[in-house]
Amino acid sequence: VAESYLDLTTSVEITNPVVRTVVEKDALVSLPRFLAEQNLQNGKAFIITDSTVAKLYGETVSSTLDRAGIDYEILIMPAGETNKTLEQAARFVEQLADSDATSSDMVIALGGGVVGDLGGFVASIYNRGLPLVQIPTTLLAMVDSSIGGKTGVDHGGKNKTGSFYQPRLVIADPAMLMTLEKRVYTEGFGEVAKYAALDADFWLELESQTTILRNFSVDNLGLLGKLITRCVQQKSKVIKSDPNEQDPAGRILFNYGHTLCHGLEAAGGYSELLHGEAVSIGMNFAAQLGEHLGITKHSFVERQTELLTSLGLPVTYRGNAQLGDIEMHVAKDKKNIDAHTTRFVLPQTIGQMTVQQVPNRVVKVEIAKFLAPKASSEIS
Ligand SMILES: NC(=O)c1ccc[n+]([C@@H]2O[C@H](COP(=O)([O-])OP(=O)(O)OC[C@H]3O[C@@H](n4cnc5c(N)ncnc54)[C@H](O)[C@@H]3O)[C@@H](O)[C@H]2O)c1
Ligand SMILES: [Zn+2]
Repeated sequence: VAESYLDLTTSVEITNPVVRTVVEKDALVSLPRFLAEQNLQNGKAFIITDSTVAKLYGETVSSTLDRAGIDYEILIMPAGETNKTLEQAARFVEQLADSDATSSDMVIALGGGVVGDLGGFVASIYNRGLPLVQIPTTLLAMVDSSIGGKTGVDHGGKNKTGSFYQPRLVIADPAMLMTLEKRVYTEGFGEVAKYAALDADFWLELESQTTILRNFSVDNLGLLGKLITRCVQQKSKVIKSDPNEQDPAGRILFNYGHTLCHGLEAAGGYSELLHGEAVSIGMNFAAQLGEHLGITKHSFVERQTELLTSLGLPVTYRGNAQLGDIEMHVAKDKKNIDAHTTRFVLPQTIGQMTVQQVPNRVVKVEIAKFLAPKASSEIS
């Protein structure tokens, strides 16, 4: 006879704190007001940022907080995806502990997606959670990574170690984009194009704006502000109904393009491609895989290549990662639910996606074809 010790069902009311998201030109200098409106003005702000962003915006943030009489400390990590590590997160946790940070303090993640993911992760684990403010400073972070509460580091694989942790406040200031390197600006469109692939109206709009968007200029700030707003609204709506990625037609669709993407990033040591570039290549692969499986129309594959290319994004991989490593990382993708198949978000046509478990042997053959120079499936 089985010995049962406890069989208890409890229902816990989870009151998700409200997330406020602001997209506003020069919002950075209004930071104290936004903090006050979220009732965060009394704690100490631990600003997690990277070396590049600290140089560009450290001064502004310091003087803004000084003037408002808000106490703060700036914690700096080296810039770049190779530093999105568990070790770096541990260093920040130690610094918080050394400064006696308490739950009435807060973490402000000021930077691109790397700082946002790592800073958010630190905020989620220190003291079992400090209030989190995201101030995304790259296009990619404004349209995507600062929204939705996925945090983490590249430990055990791309984003393998992390948590779901919602920020209390997200402040996107499009004026901060003007200091980006052109390549970093451009990679942001990888995620923008992903959103467009999920929404036919957005796709048509984006197709008509590629020339103006590629021209990275201060004259476009209004247009960028609207574009960011559109992406934030699209993502927030889905997050609200499926925060932890459980609905097969919900949040998981934002992983479109991300399966091969994560394989390329991990196999390339996180140093060859920027995330948005890898997403773009991954979208092209997913579409070609879909076509091979009879799911995706050939016209879609071509039209997507045209859109991505005209946004200045790569659609083929030219790096040095080994095929075997890429395949291994793809097979380990965290979306997978068994050892023999890989879960892909595949496009049927513009605005229509399906989630499919594709046998690993098929994936292997298709990746090899895709990566072969001048592969049989022609790429324009
Ligand atoms: N959590 C999520 O839901 C989510 C979604 C998408 C992407 N991500 C993650 O985001 C990361 C990629 O983010 P990213 O592309 O922003 O990379 P990043 O944070 O490395 O930023 C790219 C470079 O731009 C610099 N930079 C940042 N802001 C700047 C500014 N205003 N002016 C000048 N330089 C600036 C950074 O120092 C860095 O060198 C990846 O790790 C990816 O996994 C997470
Ligand atoms: Zn992404």
